[in-house]
Amino acid sequence: MPGYEWLGESEKEHINDVLDTGILFRYEFKDDRKGVYKVREFEEKFAQYTGAAYAHAVPSGSVALKVALTALGVRPGDEVITQGFTFIATFEAIMECGAVPVPAEIDDTLNLDPEDFERKITDKTRAVIPVHMLGSPARIPEIIDIARKHNIRVVEDTAQALGAAVGGKKLGTWGDMGTFSFDFYKTITTGEGGMIVTNDRDLYVRASEYADHGHDHNPDVGRAMEGRNFLGFNYRMNELQGAVGLGQLGKLGDMMQRQQENQTLIRETLESLEGVTMRAMPENGKDSYTHICFSLPNAEKAMAFHKHLTEKGLSAIYFKNNFWHFLPNWEHLIERKTAWNSEYPFAGGPYGGDFRYSKDMLPKSSAILEKLVVIPILLQMDEDLIQRIVMELQATAEEIL
Ligand SMILES: Cc1ncc(COP(=O)(O)O)c(C=O)c1O
Repeated sequence: MPGYEWLGESEKEHINDVLDTGILFRYEFKDDRKGVYKVREFEEKFAQYTGAAYAHAVPSGSVALKVALTALGVRPGDEVITQGFTFIATFEAIMECGAVPVPAEIDDTLNLDPEDFERKITDKTRAVIPVHMLGSPARIPEIIDIARKHNIRVVEDTAQALGAAVGGKKLGTWGDMGTFSFDFYKTITTGEGGMIVTNDRDLYVRASEYADHGHDHNPDVGRAMEGRNFLGFNYRMNELQGAVGLGQLGKLGDMMQRQQENQTLIRETLESLEGVTMRAMPENGKDSYTHICFSLPNAEKAMAFHKHLTEKGLSAIYFKNNFWHFLPNWEHLIERKTAWNSEYPFAGGPYGGDFRYSKDMLPKSSAILEKLVVIPILLQMDEDLIQRIVMELQATAEEIL
């Protein structure tokens, strides 16, 4: 699953190209860099891979979300709807913009429930962030239709689903903007890193200017004399990250193929077990094969199944109790404990309302997650390990189901 498993020669070659020039900064130094622009090349190749018109690289997937929301005009006083089952970064990015994250339920895809998304829309809703969790798509065509009907902008959080698609169209390219993460644990990694994709030139330009102190990147003048249209900040990726990204992107096709191979036997075994229900896939959806997700008839059986696998030394996750991926477990959000110890952005000020979170505000998501067990798929799984997983799944099912 994580690209760090396959770091190797191509990353080293790209890094050496950068070190040979001595230029670690992505802009400027035209005469010294001997034509080496790794971040730019990574952006171009990433756009090509996803089928997006534009891509802009940033230092993390969290920053990618913040920059995308900012480019779309999300600001204090707004509400942004997203699912309560996600990595907490999705919520944090909304709050970084001064907006209020409004949680919605997930459905059997384990991603945003289109109906609940529509129910949560108010006159303050400016954007929605469907998150494609654990490598597999949300019902993105329905979500886009609802968003368009209500004039709401869409940012797809594709941090966990690079390479997955619906109807042949890659995830991240359905919405107004799509964001990706290349942190240490993602399908391709740059150590830390992120990418924003879009087909809208204005949004791309706004994102790239905001992420570079407002520089308008005018090619006709030196950097010191570049103009600015608005205030920004420093959210730049550096050349070493770009170099690693290029090496990793070159292997993505092979990585996905290996994951698919590793996933197949495990999937087939699970599908043959009575009492096991596989995660739903939207019509014409394509997985990125990073995880395999399945449900048991009830919470007791799911917990027992999970316990049995982990006691046998196998990797499995029970997300209902996960500390960082499910809102009911985020006591600091529920208690509205911000770093500046105030109620902003949840109450008063530009918001005007008073938004409160609670442990039991997502009953449908809780009911889905309490029955769910997830097995991560690694690139380095060998035949012996896969056989052992298959055997343990069968033995566990016999004992528990
Ligand atoms: C769904 C989701 N969104 C956003 C992020 C944030 O990415 P990063 O760790 O690169 O900041 C992650 C990282 O795990 C994630 O899983």
